[in-house]
Amino acid sequence: MLSYRHSYHAGNFADVLKHSVLIHIIEHLKKKQKPFCYVDTHAGAGSYSLNSEQAEKTQEYLQGIAKIWQADNLPPAIAAYVNVIKAFNIDATLNRYPGSPMIARHLLRPQDRIFLYELHNTEVEILRQSVNKDKRVQVIHKDGFKQSLSIMPPQQRRGLVLIDPSYEIKTEYKQVLETIIQLHQRFSTGTYALWYPVVERQRIDELERKILASPLRNVQLFELAQRADSDAQGMTASGVVVVNPPWTLYAEMQQALPYLAENLGLVNQGAYRIRQLKDE
Ligand SMILES: C[S@@+](CC[C@H](N)C(=O)[O-])C[C@H]1O[C@@H](n2cnc3c(N)ncnc32)[C@H](O)[C@@H]1O
Repeated sequence: MLSYRHSYHAGNFADVLKHSVLIHIIEHLKKKQKPFCYVDTHAGAGSYSLNSEQAEKTQEYLQGIAKIWQADNLPPAIAAYVNVIKAFNIDATLNRYPGSPMIARHLLRPQDRIFLYELHNTEVEILRQSVNKDKRVQVIHKDGFKQSLSIMPPQQRRGLVLIDPSYEIKTEYKQVLETIIQLHQRFSTGTYALWYPVVERQRIDELERKILASPLRNVQLFELAQRADSDAQGMTASGVVVVNPPWTLYAEMQQALPYLAENLGLVNQGAYRIRQLKDE
């Protein structure tokens, strides 16, 4: 039984990093006219009200998007991200936060295609309403880990796969890497973005060790900490591992992450990590 609802967390510091990376990769893919596909193995509801009971309860967005959405002199990757969020909030109040499916739908072109997997019965219905009648988009009410394999390699032979589970089930720390390796065997030129939370640091250390030992090449890691690691505090940091990143991503994140650590860190504990985990 799935209990995770992203509406409690939409727009938090983890979404700021994840969606900034996502937007940079999509914009890079758009530099060529050739169509590409966007695959979201864990799509969520697609769009979130920041006035909902859930968002009001945690108010996580106040320590995330709300802190930077009206700032000046943003690093380019963060400026691109903030512009997308502003497109969903046309008056000057921050009311709505787009999830990864709506961000992709906003940015992709008529020739591109979007595959969204979501297992939760309620979330998938909200998602269907959000992407209503867009012929570029398929919403699939199935397990994204397993079913995304069935469309590989994609017809377009270009694309991005976002793997963004809730890690409610601890075996997902293992399953995410196994899934990327399987997808990569069928579609080795695709770009893969894997989001992870830092709740227990040793799980991420182990994930990194397994990536190093895996056949994957050209892997980068970008991590943003709101607080120092702790066993007692829930999620303190989160990161995105990117396989086959655009050549521009690393330099963009070298500018973006110090800014985010300074502006989204709590009690002066903001920090970041940037690593080339595996060479090309
Ligand atoms: C972190 S949220 C996704 C957030 C979204 N990618 C975004 O950035 O806006 C994870 C979602 O995955 C869904 N989910 C959990 N297990 C799944 C599975 N095996 N296949 C597809 N969706 C799943 C959950 O119901 C939840 O809505």
